[in-house]
Amino acid sequence: MAEKAIDDLMLENRKFPPSAAFKKTSLVTGTELYDEGNEDYQSFWARQASELVTWDKDWDTVCEWNLPYAKWFLGGQLNVSYNCLDRHVLAGRGDKVAFYWEGEPGESRVITYQQLLDEVSKFANSLKSLGVEKGDRVNIYLPMIPEAAVAMLACARIGAAHSVVFGGFSSQSLSDRINDAEAKVLITADGGYRRGEVFPLKPQADEAIATTPSIEKVVVVRRGNNPVDMKAGRDHWYHDLIDAASSDCPAEPMDSEQLLFLLYTSGTTGKPKGIMHTTGGYLTQVAFTHKYVFDLNPDKDIYWCTADVGWVTGHSYIVYGPLANGATSVMYEGVPNYPANDRFWSIIEKYKVSIFYTAPTAIRTFMKWGDQEPAKHDLSSLRLLGSVGEPINPEAWMWYHEHIGRGNCPIVDTWWQTETGGIMISPLPGATTLKPGSATFALPGIGMEVVDDECHHVEKGGGYLTLTQPWPAMLRGIWKDPERYQDAYWSRFEGRYFAGDGCKLDDDGYIWLLGRVDDVMNVSGHRISTTEVESALVSHPAVAEAAVVGANDATTGQAIMAYVILRTGFDVTESDLRNHVAKEIGAIAKPKAIFFTPDLPKTRSGKIMRRLLRDVAEGRNLGDTTTLADANVVSELQRRAAETPSED
Ligand code: WTA
Repeated sequence: MAEKAIDDLMLENRKFPPSAAFKKTSLVTGTELYDEGNEDYQSFWARQASELVTWDKDWDTVCEWNLPYAKWFLGGQLNVSYNCLDRHVLAGRGDKVAFYWEGEPGESRVITYQQLLDEVSKFANSLKSLGVEKGDRVNIYLPMIPEAAVAMLACARIGAAHSVVFGGFSSQSLSDRINDAEAKVLITADGGYRRGEVFPLKPQADEAIATTPSIEKVVVVRRGNNPVDMKAGRDHWYHDLIDAASSDCPAEPMDSEQLLFLLYTSGTTGKPKGIMHTTGGYLTQVAFTHKYVFDLNPDKDIYWCTADVGWVTGHSYIVYGPLANGATSVMYEGVPNYPANDRFWSIIEKYKVSIFYTAPTAIRTFMKWGDQEPAKHDLSSLRLLGSVGEPINPEAWMWYHEHIGRGNCPIVDTWWQTETGGIMISPLPGATTLKPGSATFALPGIGMEVVDDECHHVEKGGGYLTLTQPWPAMLRGIWKDPERYQDAYWSRFEGRYFAGDGCKLDDDGYIWLLGRVDDVMNVSGHRISTTEVESALVSHPAVAEAAVVGANDATTGQAIMAYVILRTGFDVTESDLRNHVAKEIGAIAKPKAIFFTPDLPKTRSGKIMRRLLRDVAEGRNLGDTTTLADANVVSELQRRAAETPSED
């Protein structure tokens, strides 16, 4: 991915030190936090935990590390929802805005900390009345509406773990995740807005719960006003529950290691992994990173993260980090091009957003739409920009810097994962000299090392990204699958966490992320496993065999390319199969192109040669194909690939 461009820029070595003006108000301008973290990472995190988090009971042990299992702040007790809401209200900041919510059709809602606390308390009481108890799992399948944050915080308030499923996932994906988590309650909406239209959610949810015996109750938020069936006794309207509930629901102290949430993410097999996150360590790291990476001034900044709450970025940097820090955020429901291509810039102008956090795939799309779109708006409120989800290529970084940041906003390129819970590698904007396209350095308190195939230290050049010591927000395991936890993250390099990412260190020790080195694709910043899409394809009766690869794509980072062998006697079109994948997994997993082929390139032992298919898909010259069972297959595929791939 953009390696050539990275090489070129590394030769050119453009550097952007923080400006004097930015440094003047910045929280960190020197190396003091790094020094402290290097000296003793546990004491460093302990100090953050006591400064940034309010505890009902102090911890006895900072960190207990039994590789690969970490426990943080053992013996300590706290409530995440208390930390995100009550303590701000108690400190007299109840009238402060927590969220400016902007609906896609154009309406706004302003929600203060006091209002959010009342609503969360009422909904927590509602969940209790539906039989939810501490330790239960609750599934959330909602559009980007404030009720999504309310639902998450209400679970946290009573010690139920939430499992949020992105609203774009199919009913099948929802059902799989509910069954794995054995959730008791599902919170959904009638529908949500997307590109000017209402997309139904409740009908999808109904389809899912036909196969989820654990679900006892369903809560439905009214948003799309689309018609829905409500099953008496099982289904309840959110507004009816809220109307009937008391706003008195004291936050219950939880053990630091109480399960806060599960979030499913793709691994290298067809089955998504239920990543487990707990309470005290997670909150400490998301509050720390949100404060220092975004150089937050909670009294002045208006912060906007464009992610969806269905992804980890939405969990950590729309809900928990910003609210723990008492920040004021913008939350937007819809797409960036409704009603026109300048919607994001009009939102920034309207709310005077000062910190803006988005994804490279969005930035590349904005570049495509043209410089005139941001130029229509006054973006002078912006002072800091962020990027997450995939490597940001230097061209996109420069465009972001010039056209959105008008040349005077630092850009924090933040590397992290669902598994890490919070940001791990990123500049501190008042202290770090930036290079376009580099995530720069590991944050204070984080142990990172680049190693080669044999796990030897890499000082300079390419290698694998590993984490060498526990960190507070690290995953505590994979739900119900300890073996997979060990295998997926702790087996490749002994004694360390392997992230699955390749990277490069330059002469100055800056890190340049180069993308995944496993069978996980990164499409528009979303992780999708090749196997998952292959399983979806072969579940169609017409498909005999399928191979899926991620090919470089100028806008989405990677694009899904599928090679399919049909069963004889079946007649099926490319679009039939693409829709089938959307139905099985969700629209985000639709292949960009499907090539029908009589055969697939395989080694003599029968392993599909994905590397080769990727070469074909990216139009590269092929190297040695003599290990192939049938070399003719490849030339046939190349011929087909030369015909332009189609896309919706
Ligand atoms: C990729 C998203 C380069 C990486 C928070 C990682 C990045 C995967 C960056 C995790 C970045 C995320 N630069 N690559 N700044 N941020 N990635 O779990 O491959 O959805 O392993 O978490 O995204 O994706 P996930």
